[in-house]
Amino acid sequence: MSTLAITRPVSASIGRCELSFSDRVPIDLERARAQHGLYESALRGLGCRVESLPGADDLPDAVFVEDTAVILDELAVITRPGVASRRPEIAAVAETLSSLRPLARIEAPATLDGGDVLRANRTLFVGLGSRTNQAGAEALARLAEPLGYSVVHVRVTGCLHLKSALSWLGEDRLLLDREHVDLRSPHGFRLISVPPAESPAANVLWIADTALLSGGYPRTRECLEALGLSCVTVENSELAKAEGGLTCCSLIVESSGPSTRADREPPKGQATDES
Ligand code: GLY
Repeated sequence: MSTLAITRPVSASIGRCELSFSDRVPIDLERARAQHGLYESALRGLGCRVESLPGADDLPDAVFVEDTAVILDELAVITRPGVASRRPEIAAVAETLSSLRPLARIEAPATLDGGDVLRANRTLFVGLGSRTNQAGAEALARLAEPLGYSVVHVRVTGCLHLKSALSWLGEDRLLLDREHVDLRSPHGFRLISVPPAESPAANVLWIADTALLSGGYPRTRECLEALGLSCVTVENSELAKAEGGLTCCSLIVESSGPSTRADREPPKGQATDES
């Protein structure tokens, strides 16, 4: 089993990113890029091979690559982001994923952001909120349910994406911020509430049996460590100003053998951690 993390550089235009729930405040580009570099280093430290897509300085939100696709074991679903400014991001992602998985696409009028899809074992929680519509959630269900996934629709309010407020922590554990996620039934999972006043910490990237969480949320880290979970903290203060969390900055592709193009050679013109 190998794990590929697809990332994309922070665009020079990040200051013009989409904002839905936060006021615009200046983003320090160099600091954002430095923090993103440390994020990629943390992924490598957890055993991932990091493949960085070409930068796209004309696409302010391109760093939030998670929103452009949903990776299942059997296929990759290329999304149709809920805001038009983000739709040009999908081309480069689709090209790279085409060598890793069969592709399926979400078509108009459906909209779906990858940040609204949380996979936990064979369950896909799909957030219905500001970016993903009912047609998008149903389109994903038509692709995933025949493959054996259960699809659960979840109403999201007051935050950008489902994964802003709901994360998988391995096994049967879900971390959630109940203020933003209306998860009425646990669907067989154990629900762990993010500590009060640490709402943004509900976005955790669970990878290599480790919780990768944003710096500045010590009570959440204590809570997870008290559950016996291994934790790694990464600073994300600059991209948080763009409403981006840690999961937003990568697409995680698990592969069981060296059969993908990415395992054989880096795509032309794309940086890898070997380069
Ligand atoms: N700035 C992240 C987004 O709105 O998609």
